Amino acid sequence: MIPKYLDFSYIKGKGVHIGVTGSIAAYKSLDLMRELVKREAKVSVSLSQAALKFITPITIKGLGVESVTTDMFSLDSLYSHLYPGYDPEVFAIVPATANIMAKIANGIADDLISSQALAFDKQIIVAPAMNPRMFNARPTIDNLQKLRNYGIKVVEPDVGGVACGEYGKGRLADLREIYFQILKSLAPQDLAGRKILITMGPTREFFDPVRFWSNPSSGKMGAALATAAWLRGARVTCISGDTDVWLPSEITKIDVTSAQDMFEVATELWPDHNIGCLCAAVCDFRPKNRLTQKFKKEGASNRLLVEFEKNPDILKTLGQKKNQDQKLIGFAAETEDNFIELAKEKMARKNLDFIVVNQINHKNTGFKSDKNSVVIIDKMANAVDLGTMLKADIAWEIWNRVSTS
Ligand code: CTP
Repeated sequence: MIPKYLDFSYIKGKGVHIGVTGSIAAYKSLDLMRELVKREAKVSVSLSQAALKFITPITIKGLGVESVTTDMFSLDSLYSHLYPGYDPEVFAIVPATANIMAKIANGIADDLISSQALAFDKQIIVAPAMNPRMFNARPTIDNLQKLRNYGIKVVEPDVGGVACGEYGKGRLADLREIYFQILKSLAPQDLAGRKILITMGPTREFFDPVRFWSNPSSGKMGAALATAAWLRGARVTCISGDTDVWLPSEITKIDVTSAQDMFEVATELWPDHNIGCLCAAVCDFRPKNRLTQKFKKEGASNRLLVEFEKNPDILKTLGQKKNQDQKLIGFAAETEDNFIELAKEKMARKNLDFIVVNQINHKNTGFKSDKNSVVIIDKMANAVDLGTMLKADIAWEIWNRVSTS
């Protein structure tokens, strides 16, 4: 469920409490618990009486969750209605019925989960799931607005077919959206207030309508950087070449094809951003004359000669336009042994604040891989070798350095 390139390890050891209320989507919360337990979060769960009609505590225990509570009048734990689980840092109600949201919005505490929510003084997240007519009913709309005003994060449900056969807004959100909102509530918000522009993925330089020049970039490193920055509070816009990566929906993604398209969007958006992080694998050259019709081999000679012309250098252009309040991070993929020296020279030439360099002949790292092996160099020429790590954790380390610089 969670892509490897977004598998941030800081979830380990964090306390997450899940409240499950009575919707048919209750079974989906089991997958969420599983993902959290797999990453060694300290997961505890409360089930409402209605949720017990859909899933059982035994199933949850079987997933490795140690603390499962169903009753607030238990002699074993008199205060379970006040202190859910192991002192959690976040309380996510997944799925949340119209009923539990109405109770929390109005301070009603007449059962386990509503009492826990009223007593909880850290981040609460609700992921509603219900019949679309119930979701669109005026009282539900008003209650949701109240929850937002109280600082509770609402993960909007999806539009689609629901269990009762109707169609509309009310399906439980994609579990990845819920997972990443949990992760966001556990992250430092040290990039809050910053607007970050990221380029990612490969560009495609078409030769004719069906053939193009490109490279194997997957966009995974860019997705990890964008998600990490968003988790830490930044507003993030990605300009992305053709990739299959998944991103949380609160990140803006602008799809482009060629280096020229990427250049035009990036130069337009750059003045409105505080940080630029350009990790796209941009094709340095493009076919000079793009054919409007498909190239036919019939009648052509045995050799195909294509003339290429240079694409604009996006990173260098943003570096030239950079003002003193903006920071620019570039990437370099090098094959030579003196790659650190080459990267330092590139950093100076393109007026960068940081450069992240990797030697692309390393096995199982770089293009397409979930891992990478990089060195981060700052303006003062300090170089830190991160060794081989998951791209998600590399992205985290990069922002650790940028946010304190
Ligand atoms: N880049 C860019 N626009 C280009 C080419 C590269 O924005 N037309 C950016 C990449 O996103 C990356 C950095 O420049 O952040 C480094 O790209 P790289 O190809 O390694 O360096 P170049 O300066 O193009 O030099 P060379 O390929 O000759 O090493």
